[in-house]
Amino acid sequence: MKAAVVRRPLIAGNWKMHKTIAQTRDLVRDLRTRALPEGVDVVIAPPFTALACAREALGSSTIALGAQTMHEGASGPFTGEIAAPMLLEIGVSYVILGHSERRASCNETDAGVNRKVRAALENGIVPIVAVGESESEHVAGRAIERVVAQSREAFSGVSPGDVARCVVAYEPIWAIGTGRSDDPEQADGVIAAIRGAVTGLAHARLLYGGSMKAENAAAFLAMANIDGGLIGGASLEVASFAAIVAAAAGRAHAS
Ligand code: PGA
Repeated sequence: MKAAVVRRPLIAGNWKMHKTIAQTRDLVRDLRTRALPEGVDVVIAPPFTALACAREALGSSTIALGAQTMHEGASGPFTGEIAAPMLLEIGVSYVILGHSERRASCNETDAGVNRKVRAALENGIVPIVAVGESESEHVAGRAIERVVAQSREAFSGVSPGDVARCVVAYEPIWAIGTGRSDDPEQADGVIAAIRGAVTGLAHARLLYGGSMKAENAAAFLAMANIDGGLIGGASLEVASFAAIVAAAAGRAHAS
């Protein structure tokens, strides 16, 4: 019998296009004064311009640094893009890939997300792959079909061992930034379907995202398939972010 894999809870803050360098320094300093629970992995993903300052402000903290996207190439004529080696140099260890805002406004495709997933893994950066259905797909009962297709494409050709090192964030698009979070049991069902759709995801960490906040985090984190959260708005305030991290304490699952 194979030993069970313990999936440690993971709470990741997606700051999006918020926080200057000075604001980042303040937020990280404040975050470091909070007693965060043991056994929960915490990631913050500030804008590119604030990554180096965040790394410095994090000092010896165990909070990890994430980027919000990256290019799949190592270098080249790609104006405005950032490559994995550049992120590694700053101390980035996670990267959010395929966020719905980038799929919508930067034409990111499933095939492109797949290339980025491979590049991140080659560089030892953990991809946090975001998938999610639109409101009309949700209403039409097509959420599972949509996110299973996105997940299969994102990990196409990736070995099960590498898939298991990745993170997937299920973020229903209609729940992002709207204050209308999904129902935890419904989200758990969709996440269970994602887990079963790709070999290796059984052991990966699967998160929920979409208006997750201090008030509803515990209900999501109590679900068997939900290993944490990708937090937008509520990650910009230390009190709410720290409360979500606290709600993840003791929520490790085994598979
Ligand atoms: P939200 O954003 O928590 O503000 O809904 C989540 C996300 O987009 O990652």
